[in-house]
Amino acid sequence: MTDLLHRADLKTLWLLGQPVSHSMSPLIQNTALRHLGLPIVYQAAAVESQEFENAVRGLRALGALGANVTVPHKQAAYRICDEVSPRAKAMGACNVLRFKNGRILGDNTDGSGWWRGLTERFGPDIPRRAVVLGAGGASRAIVATLSKLGVPELYLLNRTRENAERLAAEVAPNCQVEPLESFIDLLEPGCLVVQTTSAGLEASESPLPLPTRWPTGAILSELIYGKSTPLARAIQEMGAEVQDGLPMLVYQAAESLSLWLELPLESIPDRLMMDAALSA
Ligand code: ATR
Repeated sequence: MTDLLHRADLKTLWLLGQPVSHSMSPLIQNTALRHLGLPIVYQAAAVESQEFENAVRGLRALGALGANVTVPHKQAAYRICDEVSPRAKAMGACNVLRFKNGRILGDNTDGSGWWRGLTERFGPDIPRRAVVLGAGGASRAIVATLSKLGVPELYLLNRTRENAERLAAEVAPNCQVEPLESFIDLLEPGCLVVQTTSAGLEASESPLPLPTRWPTGAILSELIYGKSTPLARAIQEMGAEVQDGLPMLVYQAAESLSLWLELPLESIPDRLMMDAALSA
């Protein structure tokens, strides 16, 4: 890495968000870049919302290759783009920006990264019913992805109903909005539950009613990693399967890198990226 910093032809990739200091993305991306032997470094920068646009235009002016965008800027990133991919358009949010011929190109690898992690572990079958908990920024890519996959029964549960209704109207008009309290009634064998809120993470009390039985073959996917929610702990005690957010983090990163480098996804060293994340 030190030798790289001596090079005048060094290119840069960035993570823009607030906060970013705990992000594993620099570790994951620099592991891959070093393995590929490229004179590129990936760096995280904490950027306030009012500076986001300046930051993106500044990076473009400096010749950066691109950036990942995280909380709370993904929707602002979408708005700043000259061109966006169809999937980013469906989500109204970008987690990847590329600079090409002076243009800002936006994409979103959150949904595909999440789905890849899930199908790798549980197989490619599309569930008959999916229940998404939370309607914040993280929920957007998940709801849009499940809608695009054609999940027949898609439910969105949120504390504040208007937030869920707005998200549904924007990304998945076929999804049904329900209060958090309906969670247990909506569980059925083989269903997929996606927990996108970090609510109750620290507290012993869950904002959700916790099930006392978990249906056969139902899967819980949480977007957080390195911590577990009261819901995850409760159902793990019943012997049920829980996927955390680490595979999503790694696979959205791998696909981001393939976009910046314009390389096929198969040539991105995603096992190494996963190992780096797991060892952190
Ligand atoms: P992120 O970008 O990580 O998704 P966010 O946009 O702030 O974060 O969204 C947080 C989500 O967690 C929202 O769905 C929020 O519900 P509201 O729309 O009602 O605000 C949910 N959430 C946060 N704290 C919560 C709590 N104590 N109980 C229930 N839901 C909560």
